[in-house]
Amino acid sequence: MADIIVTGGAGFIGSNLVDKLLDEGYSVAVMDDLSTGNKANLPESIRLHRVDIRSAVVRRVFSIEKPKYLFHLAAQLNVRKSVADPVFDCDVNVMGIINLLEAAREYDVEKVIFTSTGGAIYGEQEYFPADEKHPTNPESPYGITKLTSEKYLQFYYRTHGLKYNIFRLANIYGPRQSTVGEAGVVAAFYDRLIAGDDAIINGEGNQTRDFVYVGDVVDALIKGLKYPDCDIFNIGTATETTVVELFRIMRDISGSDQEEKFGPGKPGEQIRSVITYDKAKEKLGWEPRVDIKTGLEKTYEYFKRKHEIAASV
Ligand SMILES: NC(=O)c1ccc[n+]([C@@H]2O[C@H](COP(=O)([O-])OP(=O)(O)OC[C@H]3O[C@@H](n4cnc5c(N)ncnc54)[C@H](O)[C@@H]3O)[C@@H](O)[C@H]2O)c1
Repeated sequence: MADIIVTGGAGFIGSNLVDKLLDEGYSVAVMDDLSTGNKANLPESIRLHRVDIRSAVVRRVFSIEKPKYLFHLAAQLNVRKSVADPVFDCDVNVMGIINLLEAAREYDVEKVIFTSTGGAIYGEQEYFPADEKHPTNPESPYGITKLTSEKYLQFYYRTHGLKYNIFRLANIYGPRQSTVGEAGVVAAFYDRLIAGDDAIINGEGNQTRDFVYVGDVVDALIKGLKYPDCDIFNIGTATETTVVELFRIMRDISGSDQEEKFGPGKPGEQIRSVITYDKAKEKLGWEPRVDIKTGLEKTYEYFKRKHEIAASV
């Protein structure tokens, strides 16, 4: 039995969340198919159910763990892949959450905490920073399946009383991130800067993102456990950073003297993305604590160690 199941717990945000939940004394089990996650991200002691969220085995996991809370982070989160293979994206993200919600309702889960997106769900923004009332105009299948997932959570609450909190995350960076997520650029730049390879900036590098440190995100998700209502929260910093600015900060931290190098722009890439956190501050008492320079320094330490370990084997 476990207080909490974390789907996607072997991934970047999920494994940071698992560490913090364990620190806070919760018993935790992880459900992950390890498609992009890694067992090495988890402590030895954790119960890992290597299960696809779409599979019939999900119910058996719930019958064993009988969790009070479900953190649902497992997803197909590659925007480009969602465009190339929308059937797969929909299968994992939509069929996956429905399968989990059916199990959650059958096994009397009290609340589901879901990681949505504060980037792809709003599409090209009409005003800056976007609050939770900003129109949702997703421009990719990934954004559409995240929005659809939110609608299913609301349906399960209305119809079955299964509570939820939705966290629309901006661009998350930090230790254990891979190049795939919405802030994958941080991992890509560090991998290249540390290896001494060219870090290529897409287009002119004027595109902006709202970068949030993973430790801050984990704090927000955990605040959802004690929040009594069902609600949607943006988790961002309300601060825009251009990709060129990001590159310069990272270059300084890594001690590289690499020139800025520009490649072709990515078609369909959002130009500006930045979201408020006023609602999370007012209702959850959450605000971002780690500024981008400090967060990128902590992240650098992780990537440097990763490269040292890889070089020593
Ligand atoms: N990283 C970001 O910047 C960002 C921004 C907004 C939202 N999010 C959301 O946060 C969540 C976690 O993202 P992350 O960046 O940690 O990504 P990640 O790839 O590191 O983690 C996803 C995890 O889900 C697992 N998984 C994928 N498909 C699965 C399936 N069918 N069954 C079981 N497990 C499966 C993977 O193995 C992986 O461990 C996702 O829902 C993502 O959409 C991330």
